[in-house]
Amino acid sequence: MSGFSTSWLALREPADRAARDAGLIARLTEALSGRKRLAIVDLGTGSGSNMWALAPLLPGPQSWLLVDNDPALLEQAQDSSRTLTDRDGRPLVARTMLRDLAQPGWEDVLARADLVTMSALLDLVSADFVATLARAAKGAAIHATLTVDGRMACLPEDSLDEAVFAAFRHHMDGDKGFGPSLGTRAGEMAASQLEAEGFRVERAPADWHVGPDQPSLLVALLDGWIEAVRETGRLPEAELSRWAARRRAEAEAGSLELRVGHVDLLALPL
Ligand SMILES: C[S@@+](CC[C@H](N)C(=O)[O-])C[C@H]1O[C@@H](n2cnc3c(N)ncnc32)[C@H](O)[C@@H]1O
Repeated sequence: MSGFSTSWLALREPADRAARDAGLIARLTEALSGRKRLAIVDLGTGSGSNMWALAPLLPGPQSWLLVDNDPALLEQAQDSSRTLTDRDGRPLVARTMLRDLAQPGWEDVLARADLVTMSALLDLVSADFVATLARAAKGAAIHATLTVDGRMACLPEDSLDEAVFAAFRHHMDGDKGFGPSLGTRAGEMAASQLEAEGFRVERAPADWHVGPDQPSLLVALLDGWIEAVRETGRLPEAELSRWAARRRAEAEAGSLELRVGHVDLLALPL
């Protein structure tokens, strides 16, 4: 198991869907039009939300290769693919591959891909992973969506926010199983690595705005931040507990809004 629970992935899905940059998807669609068949590889598929968002917008026929190291999530993704169609109403072909993308040689999953896509994965991986991706995906389009970039905000503001956010950023930049992670610098670093390998790269913000209309996501997000900050040990426990109590009370009263900065990236071969 990967530690990414089905309930967390389901909770974040509507916020992800609202945040994805439509302009980059339109450019991707245009770049992929006119092909006989699209071979698409989704790295770190989870329960399939990237496929749910992209498949109905892209031309077809489409074959998806869904890659993850969590067999339970892959099974859900495969099941959900049966109800999806491409832009023209044709069913997808989807197969799964159980694979540890942190192990050398992972890049053979990219063979013959027209599109390599990933959602909420790029900030977890290392610079080596992106260097391998850039070399092995030559000739394919690359779409990496919902990469955290470290921008965070709470409304209303609180004098401890910056200290909490700094500790959380430190946590985001930690090793996530791929070696030193790109974390909050992932969008920027991937863009320069891909440009150096001859891709034309565009980036666009894809931020979450989570308010009282999404109470479960709001509370889960807040709890996740508090737990992560506590793990770093960078904030005195008494201060963190006071901040957490204030923020939980605001969430309960329906007066808290959270913003999480993400970036979407589209890299097209020149
Ligand atoms: C944040 S979740 C995103 C899931 C999905 N793409 C989405 O947007 O809902 C990260 C995904 O990467 C997968 N993952 C993490 N480390 C991995 C590894 N070493 N090899 C393969 N998959 C991995 C996890 O199992 C999880 O499904």
